[in-house]
Amino acid sequence: MKIGRLTISDRASAGIYADRSGPEIENVLREFLGGAATFESAMVPDEVDLISAALKKFADELNCDLIVTTGGTGISARDVTPEATKAVLEKELPGFGEIMRVQSFAKVRTAILSRATAGTRGNSLILNLPGKPSAVRECLEILAPAIREGVAHLRGDDPH
Ligand code: MTE
Repeated sequence: MKIGRLTISDRASAGIYADRSGPEIENVLREFLGGAATFESAMVPDEVDLISAALKKFADELNCDLIVTTGGTGISARDVTPEATKAVLEKELPGFGEIMRVQSFAKVRTAILSRATAGTRGNSLILNLPGKPSAVRECLEILAPAIREGVAHLRGDDPH
Protein backbone atom coordinates (compact mmCIF):
# COMPACT_ATOMS: atom_id res chain seq x y z
CA MET A 1 0.00 0.00 0.00
CA LYS A 2 1.37 3.42 -0.97
CA ILE A 3 0.58 6.05 1.65
CA GLY A 4 0.93 9.83 1.45
CA ARG A 5 1.12 11.65 4.76
CA LEU A 6 0.57 15.38 4.94
CA THR A 7 1.32 17.49 8.00
CA ILE A 8 -0.67 20.72 8.03
CA SER A 9 0.75 23.28 10.45
CA ASP A 10 1.88 26.89 10.17
CA ARG A 11 4.37 26.46 12.99
CA ALA A 12 5.84 23.09 12.04
CA SER A 13 6.26 24.19 8.41
CA ALA A 14 8.03 27.37 9.62
CA GLY A 15 10.43 25.26 11.73
CA ILE A 16 9.10 26.70 15.02
CA TYR A 17 8.59 23.19 16.33
CA ALA A 18 9.24 19.69 15.08
CA ASP A 19 6.56 17.68 13.33
CA ARG A 20 5.70 14.76 15.62
CA SER A 21 2.27 13.82 14.28
CA GLY A 22 3.38 13.11 10.67
CA PRO A 23 5.98 10.53 11.78
CA GLU A 24 3.37 9.09 14.18
CA ILE A 25 1.08 8.35 11.20
CA GLU A 26 3.92 6.31 9.77
CA ASN A 27 4.65 4.51 13.08
CA VAL A 28 1.03 3.50 13.62
CA LEU A 29 0.37 2.43 10.03
CA ARG A 30 3.56 0.36 9.95
CA GLU A 31 2.31 -1.44 13.07
CA PHE A 32 -0.97 -2.21 11.29
CA LEU A 33 0.32 -2.89 7.79
CA GLY A 34 3.89 -4.10 8.37
CA GLY A 35 6.34 -4.07 5.47
CA ALA A 36 3.49 -3.72 2.94
CA ALA A 37 3.44 0.07 3.41
CA THR A 38 5.57 2.65 1.58
CA PHE A 39 5.36 6.35 2.46
CA GLU A 40 5.55 9.74 0.77
CA SER A 41 5.49 12.77 3.06
CA ALA A 42 4.88 16.51 2.80
CA MET A 43 4.28 19.46 5.10
CA VAL A 44 2.36 22.66 4.33
CA PRO A 45 1.10 25.69 6.30
CA ASP A 46 -2.63 26.09 7.01
CA GLU A 47 -3.57 27.45 3.56
CA VAL A 48 -6.48 25.97 1.57
CA ASP A 49 -4.74 26.14 -1.82
CA LEU A 50 -1.51 24.56 -0.58
CA ILE A 51 -3.36 21.77 1.22
CA SER A 52 -5.58 20.99 -1.78
CA ALA A 53 -2.57 21.02 -4.13
CA ALA A 54 -0.63 18.60 -1.89
CA LEU A 55 -3.64 16.25 -1.72
CA LYS A 56 -4.04 16.33 -5.51
CA LYS A 57 -0.35 15.58 -6.01
CA PHE A 58 -0.53 12.55 -3.69
CA ALA A 59 -3.67 11.27 -5.44
CA ASP A 60 -3.20 12.19 -9.11
CA GLU A 61 0.58 12.14 -9.61
CA LEU A 62 1.90 9.78 -6.94
CA ASN A 63 -1.12 7.42 -7.06
CA CYS A 64 -1.27 6.93 -3.30
CA ASP A 65 -3.78 4.32 -2.12
CA LEU A 66 -4.23 6.17 1.14
CA ILE A 67 -3.60 9.84 2.00
CA VAL A 68 -3.65 10.84 5.66
CA THR A 69 -3.52 14.44 6.87
CA THR A 70 -2.81 15.63 10.40
CA GLY A 71 -3.74 19.02 11.80
CA GLY A 72 -5.99 21.94 11.00
CA THR A 73 -9.33 20.21 11.64
CA GLY A 74 -10.44 22.34 14.60
CA ILE A 75 -12.15 25.71 14.88
CA SER A 76 -9.26 28.17 15.15
CA ALA A 77 -9.13 30.90 12.53
CA ARG A 78 -6.36 29.12 10.60
CA ASP A 79 -7.97 25.63 10.67
CA VAL A 80 -9.01 24.95 7.07
CA THR A 81 -8.08 21.32 6.46
CA PRO A 82 -11.67 20.02 6.07
CA GLU A 83 -12.49 22.79 3.56
CA ALA A 84 -9.33 22.07 1.53
CA THR A 85 -10.08 18.34 1.64
CA LYS A 86 -13.72 18.66 0.58
CA ALA A 87 -12.60 20.80 -2.38
CA VAL A 88 -10.72 17.82 -3.86
CA LEU A 89 -12.96 14.91 -2.83
CA GLU A 90 -15.12 13.14 -5.37
CA LYS A 91 -17.09 11.10 -2.81
CA GLU A 92 -17.22 12.19 0.81
CA LEU A 93 -17.22 9.51 3.52
CA PRO A 94 -18.67 11.34 6.53
CA GLY A 95 -18.70 8.17 8.63
CA PHE A 96 -14.94 8.33 9.19
CA GLY A 97 -15.19 11.69 10.96
CA GLU A 98 -18.38 10.73 12.77
CA ILE A 99 -17.02 7.51 14.26
CA MET A 100 -13.67 9.15 15.11
CA ARG A 101 -15.48 11.82 17.10
CA VAL A 102 -17.94 9.47 18.80
CA GLN A 103 -15.35 6.90 19.85
CA SER A 104 -12.67 9.43 20.78
CA PHE A 105 -15.21 11.42 22.79
CA ALA A 106 -15.55 8.52 25.21
CA LYS A 107 -11.90 9.09 26.17
CA VAL A 108 -11.20 12.74 25.32
CA ARG A 109 -14.03 15.26 25.70
CA THR A 110 -12.38 17.70 23.28
CA ALA A 111 -12.66 15.17 20.41
CA ILE A 112 -15.89 16.89 19.41
CA LEU A 113 -13.85 19.96 18.40
CA SER A 114 -12.44 18.16 15.36
CA ARG A 115 -14.24 18.64 12.01
CA ALA A 116 -12.15 15.93 10.30
CA THR A 117 -13.64 14.26 7.24
CA ALA A 118 -12.67 11.68 4.61
CA GLY A 119 -13.52 10.54 1.12
CA THR A 120 -12.22 9.41 -2.22
CA ARG A 121 -10.46 10.99 -5.15
CA GLY A 122 -9.87 8.57 -8.03
CA ASN A 123 -8.48 5.41 -6.44
CA SER A 124 -7.21 7.24 -3.35
CA LEU A 125 -8.79 7.22 0.10
CA ILE A 126 -8.20 10.59 1.80
CA LEU A 127 -8.52 10.89 5.58
CA ASN A 128 -8.13 13.85 7.97
CA LEU A 129 -6.79 13.31 11.49
CA PRO A 130 -6.35 15.85 14.30
CA GLY A 131 -2.95 17.36 14.92
CA LYS A 132 -1.92 15.79 18.22
CA PRO A 133 0.28 12.66 18.00
CA SER A 134 -1.88 10.92 20.64
CA ALA A 135 -5.00 11.72 18.57
CA VAL A 136 -3.33 10.31 15.45
CA ARG A 137 -2.84 6.99 17.22
CA GLU A 138 -6.27 6.94 18.85
CA CYS A 139 -8.07 7.66 15.59
CA LEU A 140 -6.05 5.33 13.37
CA GLU A 141 -6.65 2.46 15.80
CA ILE A 142 -10.42 3.06 15.52
CA LEU A 143 -10.40 3.38 11.74
CA ALA A 144 -7.84 0.74 10.69
CA PRO A 145 -10.34 -1.98 9.65
CA ALA A 146 -12.39 0.49 7.55
CA ILE A 147 -9.21 1.90 5.98
CA ARG A 148 -8.03 -1.56 4.95
CA GLU A 149 -11.44 -2.42 3.47
CA GLY A 150 -11.87 0.97 1.77
CA VAL A 151 -8.47 0.76 0.07
CA ALA A 152 -9.30 -2.76 -1.16
CA HIS A 153 -12.57 -1.50 -2.67
CA LEU A 154 -10.83 1.37 -4.47
CA ARG A 155 -8.17 -0.98 -5.85
CA GLY A 156 -10.86 -3.30 -7.14
CA ASP A 157 -9.58 -6.12 -4.91
CA ASP A 158 -13.08 -6.50 -3.52
CA PRO A 159 -16.14 -7.14 -5.71
CA HIS A 160 -18.56 -4.94 -3.67
N1 MTE B 1 -9.26 13.25 19.05
C1 MTE B 1 -8.61 12.33 19.79
N2 MTE B 1 -8.82 11.04 19.55
N3 MTE B 1 -7.74 12.69 20.77
C2 MTE B 1 -7.48 14.01 21.03
O1 MTE B 1 -6.67 14.30 21.93
N4 MTE B 1 -7.94 16.35 20.42
C3 MTE B 1 -9.03 17.25 20.02
C4 MTE B 1 -9.73 16.87 18.73
N5 MTE B 1 -9.72 15.45 18.50
C5 MTE B 1 -8.15 15.01 20.26
C6 MTE B 1 -9.05 14.56 19.26
C7 MTE B 1 -8.69 18.67 20.02
S1 MTE B 1 -8.08 19.31 21.47
C8 MTE B 1 -8.92 19.49 18.94
S2 MTE B 1 -8.74 21.18 19.06
C9 MTE B 1 -9.41 18.92 17.67
O2 MTE B 1 -9.21 17.52 17.62
C10 MTE B 1 -8.84 19.55 16.41
O3 MTE B 1 -7.45 19.38 16.37
P1 MTE B 1 -6.58 19.94 15.14
O4 MTE B 1 -7.01 21.35 14.89
O5 MTE B 1 -5.17 19.80 15.57
O6 MTE B 1 -6.86 19.09 13.92
